[in-house]
Amino acid sequence: MPSSPNIAIVGVTGAVGQEFLRVIDQRDFPYANLKLLASMRSAGKTVEFRGQTFTIEELTETSFADVDLALFSAGTSISKKFAPIAVEAGAVVVDNSSAFRMTDSVPLIVPEVNADAIGNDIQLGVAGKAGIVANPNCSTIIMLVPVTPLHRAAGVKRMVVSTYQAASGAGAAAMAELEQQTREVLNDEPPTCNIFPMQYAFNLFSHNSDIGSEGYNTEELKMVHETHKIWGTTSPRITATCVRVPVMRAHAESINLEFDSLLNEDAARDILSAAPGVTVIDDRPSNRFPTPLDASHEDDIFVGRIRNDISRPDGKGLDLFVCGDQIRKGAALNAVQIAEVLVQRVPVG
Ligand SMILES: NC(=O)c1ccc[n+]([C@@H]2O[C@H](COP(=O)([O-])OP(=O)(O)OC[C@H]3O[C@@H](n4cnc5c(N)ncnc54)[C@H](OP(=O)(O)O)[C@@H]3O)[C@@H](O)[C@H]2O)c1
Repeated sequence: MPSSPNIAIVGVTGAVGQEFLRVIDQRDFPYANLKLLASMRSAGKTVEFRGQTFTIEELTETSFADVDLALFSAGTSISKKFAPIAVEAGAVVVDNSSAFRMTDSVPLIVPEVNADAIGNDIQLGVAGKAGIVANPNCSTIIMLVPVTPLHRAAGVKRMVVSTYQAASGAGAAAMAELEQQTREVLNDEPPTCNIFPMQYAFNLFSHNSDIGSEGYNTEELKMVHETHKIWGTTSPRITATCVRVPVMRAHAESINLEFDSLLNEDAARDILSAAPGVTVIDDRPSNRFPTPLDASHEDDIFVGRIRNDISRPDGKGLDLFVCGDQIRKGAALNAVQIAEVLVQRVPVG
């Protein structure tokens, strides 16, 4: 991987694709050339970036000639088809979709947690290796940035998480639909439901991903299985309930942790205060804790409500409430941090 690679952004017109541009700009990520790719619907449109006008090109099988680094955020079917084509053409792919997350040869990376799992073979583009690094699910990333340092300190034995997920997690069209529905409901008009199956404004509902035979939706199972892969162990028992709430941007999660060894709230607060990528907002006298608005457009995961679980008097239980911008740390920022490891530019954190 050259230190200033030729970059392609696949899905540049989407919620994550637009954030890729902001993150590359703000972190001054080095690149030689930038290629902006989307569907034929967007081909020919122009994007102003750093004083330069870029023309969006249609993604095709020939898009990756001369590309060193391809950042994919155009959905699972696009990644499944085009990521191998990009790798074949010589690029390393950082993929935001779920297409390859559970593939054994593909590292699943949260840089603050397991950057070392990326491996030299990916960086050197060794033949026969996947050449793909996967970004975890956004809710998984937001959970693991604060929980991993606690796991390292006391060993998570069981984790129970409930999510409060924003419209932005479902893409740019979902954000537009929440805005439109809000106006419609306030005007006593029937809400338009093209993206979501029911009224979203002034409502909430179970996550709109498919439900399996055991009653879990796929978002919930991603949080379980991806955590096991990232931590490299299936020992921690994990259960999740994922809910969409009518928040525009940034997910929240309530997390209950049971540990192998003792960990009280003061020790946890100290660990979290020193953890990379974490900001603690835990002001009990003012009843001031993290909100999605605090986290919106921010890099860090915000953590509060750090308290001993009173249902576990043995001192091995803890409750947390976290908020994180899932377009940013849950997608674009995490992917660019992975790319920074690939170009060996900065230490993680
Ligand atoms: N939103 C999040 O917070 C989040 C978090 C983590 C992961 N992700 C993942 O990131 C991916 C994109 O999510 P998003 O929220 O950014 O979605 P989005 O706002 O709906 O954007 C989708 C992007 O994909 C492009 N696209 C669609 N069909 C295409 C095709 N046939 N060829 C080339 N490009 C095509 C779209 O281009 P056009 O504008 O031309 O249609 C657009 O740029 C998904 O896999 C999603 O699961 C999203």
